[in-house]
Order: sequence, then C-alpha cells, then structure tokens
Amino acid sequence: MGSGYSMKNLTIQNVSKTYFDPYAGANVTAVHDISLKVNQGEFISIVGPSGCGKTTLLNMVAGFLPISGGSITIDDKPIKGPGADRGVVFQTFALFPWKTVGENVGFGPRMRGLPKKECDQIALEFLSLVGLEHVAQKYPNELSGGMQQRVGVVRALANNPDVLLMDEPFASVDAQTRMTLQEELTKIWQARRPTILFITHDVPESVFLADRVVVLSKGRVLEDMPIQLQRPRVWEHLIEDDTFKGFSSQVLSKVRSA
Ligand SMILES: Nc1ncnc2c1ncn2[C@@H]1O[C@H](COP(=O)(O)OP(=O)(O)O)[C@@H](O)[C@H]1O
Ligand SMILES: [Mg+2]
Repeated sequence: MGSGYSMKNLTIQNVSKTYFDPYAGANVTAVHDISLKVNQGEFISIVGPSGCGKTTLLNMVAGFLPISGGSITIDDKPIKGPGADRGVVFQTFALFPWKTVGENVGFGPRMRGLPKKECDQIALEFLSLVGLEHVAQKYPNELSGGMQQRVGVVRALANNPDVLLMDEPFASVDAQTRMTLQEELTKIWQARRPTILFITHDVPESVFLADRVVVLSKGRVLEDMPIQLQRPRVWEHLIEDDTFKGFSSQVLSKVRSA
C-alpha cells in the first residue's frame, strides 16, 4: 500500500474568522488569531471547551469555510477550497447507506477514476487495517456504531490524504469501543504516517493520541504542549503511567482555565 504522502508543511498563520449572526444582527468572532505549524506526519490534538473555535478552525483547513484574515497554506500554497489532499472525518458523518461498506471505502479511489476491481482491492486492504474486511459486502446499517466509525476513518484514509482532519470522530461511541478506536488510530497512523489534526474536548484522548496537544481558548492558542510518550500507545499501560497522568493533568488545568 505504501504511504506516498507528499505534503511538507501545513502552516496556519494569524488566522481569524468572523461570522455574521443573522439572529443577533451582529458579527461573532469565532477565531481571533491562531498560528500553528504542522509538520508532515505529525499527530496533533486540538482541545478546548465548547465554542472555542475548534470546528471553525478545522473547517477552514478543510476549505469548507473561507478565512477572514491571515493565511492557511500547504507547502506555501494557500488553501482555496476542499481538496483530495485533505480528508475529513466528523462525529456524525454519513456513510452512503445504499452502498456496501466496501463500496463506501472504495468510493474516493473510484471517483479518482480507478477501475472497480482495483477499488474493491483497495477497500479490502483498508478495511483489514481495522479488522473489518469480512463486512465489505454488508450495508452500513448492518454495522454497530463503532464499526461504522472505523469504516468512516478508513474511508477517509483510502483517498491517501496528506492531512486527515478529524472533528470529535469518536464522541458518540461507548467508552470501551472508544479506547479501541483510539489504539487503532494510533496504529494506523504509525504505519502510514498521515498528518493528523484531531479535535476533541476529551483531555485523556488528546494526550493519548498526539505528539502535540494544542489547547485553544476563545479563538486563540493557549498552549502548545509536546507529548513525550513512547509508542505504540496502549491504554492498559498508559492508564497507570505517571508521565501520562502528568501530561493529562497539565492539559486539563489549561483547558479548565481556558
Ligand atoms: N455558522 C455560524 N454562524 C455564526 N456563529 C457561528 C457559526 N458557527 C460557529 N459559530 C460560533 O463560533 C464560535 C465557535 O464555534 P465552533 O467553531 O463550533 O466551536 P467548537 O467546535 O470549539 O465548539 C461559537 O461561539 C459559535 O456559536
Ligand atoms: Mg465543534
């Protein structure tokens, strides 16, 4: 499968975003001033209280929302809109219910014009990353929530995006499944090394996953903390690990002061 990622750097420079709120008849500044340099292959968690601008920031990087100020560039090229170089996974995202799981995962490659047989093969390879190759012929509604979420993650990966943008993708699954998904995601990331921006308001999740945790507060970066923990990361070991607990409590106190 090979990784084949070509992106060098994602640079977010003094970015701001102001919405016009038609109900209030006024402008709302969701993102005041955010700068962030993300290196190829880095795993970054962005954490902060509800309303601090996480989703707004992600949508601007995805190219779904125009920025109000500053710049967002990939390899010095400004982002002008959505692109196949960036894959997005939301908390509630729709798999196509009328397509099989395999067809869902192979959809991106198919849209790039690859022959059906090859797309089926790609879908199987990606499904096997999360142990789901046996459900390729099933339809999404035959799968549990956790399985659907896994399919969503590998569907995004099957496009070989340089950057994977994830907005609270595990927020709606039960606690045990969530831990498994977190471990799986770190494994996939280690094997393939896409750049990941992972949004969450869950502090342990942010620390468990990332190389760096960026804490946002009211549309600004409050803290950018490197997480020096060995990989592979496994909950069974980390849950009692003093270094892990130390990082978690540092991030927590920042988030609570945010
Ligand atoms: N489309 C919109 N129009 C007006 N205000 C918005 C819009 N989307 C988000 N906001 C406001 O921007 C702020 C940041 O929202 P958001 O980026 O969704 O935060 P988070 O994802 O961290 O919870 C909030 O105050 C929210 O109400
Ligand atoms: Mg949000």
